[in-house]
Amino acid sequence: MATPIILDCDPGHDDAVALLLALASPELELLGVTTTYGNQTLEKTTANAIRVLELAGRPDVPVAAGADRPLERELVVAAHVHGESGLDGPTLPPPSAEPISRDAVEWMAGAIADAAGTVTLVPTGPLTNVARYLDEHGTTGIERIVLMGGAIAEGNMTPAAEFNVWADPEAAQAVLHAEVDVTMIGLDVTHRAVTGADVQRRLRGAGSIGVFVAELVDFFAVYHRETYGWDGAPIHDAVAVAHLLRPGLVGTKPRNVEVELESELCRGRTVVDLWLRTGRPANAHVGVDLDTDAFFDLLVERLARLPAR
Ligand code: BDR
Ligand code: CA
Repeated sequence: MATPIILDCDPGHDDAVALLLALASPELELLGVTTTYGNQTLEKTTANAIRVLELAGRPDVPVAAGADRPLERELVVAAHVHGESGLDGPTLPPPSAEPISRDAVEWMAGAIADAAGTVTLVPTGPLTNVARYLDEHGTTGIERIVLMGGAIAEGNMTPAAEFNVWADPEAAQAVLHAEVDVTMIGLDVTHRAVTGADVQRRLRGAGSIGVFVAELVDFFAVYHRETYGWDGAPIHDAVAVAHLLRPGLVGTKPRNVEVELESELCRGRTVVDLWLRTGRPANAHVGVDLDTDAFFDLLVERLARLPAR
């Protein structure tokens, strides 16, 4: 039986690739997409989720709009990385449909209750929707959570913190302490998933969806070239989906993770007890490594399966 998943995302270039990878993978049953503010406003990320599903010929996949701001913090979006639309680069028509619901938490409750088996949540944006869901409905029916966010020793929003956790640190801390199986795939891992000229060439040869992804990368790479000097872009969020498809692709260690909530300097830092210094119990499988070649082989092979647009 395919693994039922809900993708909770803020598309976003790499969120869009994560969504396409899930659609292309028969091992996964995408029950629906829930959206959050993050890379752009909620209105734009929700429209983008629908646009990508329509591009892939899957307008049947439900999209439910969720949080338009963090639990406690001010709203900040990552337009400096993802552009005005949140998905700048390739041309996409506007969405032809509205989201099925404007209450992602309520929609998730129904989808999880109706699912044939336990459901895996894959959050690839700020964790506001998931924290709210767990607070209101608990962990029943959830198999596990595999999220992109945080880092052991990296930062991208600030020197200390990764964007998704920085955006809503209280939500991230709540998810990490929800007594549910959590895998945290952070920047230490996803910065190994950086495209280069060879990956771009292979994507352009992987059908029209592959070309679309290569065009997304062209735009996404501009920020990363200027910031890091890289010849490409990290496809952060697709690594979380790939981890479901190929256990072992991401190396993980069971570790304690706490989120810094007090300091302004280190806001949203995920403090990972990598070397077991504290005695605090493990609350996450923390990503430590990636088989980069296997990741891109899988991504290209799967995207090539999607029908031409
Ligand atoms: C995360 O932040 C967003 O910009 C990306 O979509 C990814 O989820 C990386 O820090
Ligand atoms: Ca994202």
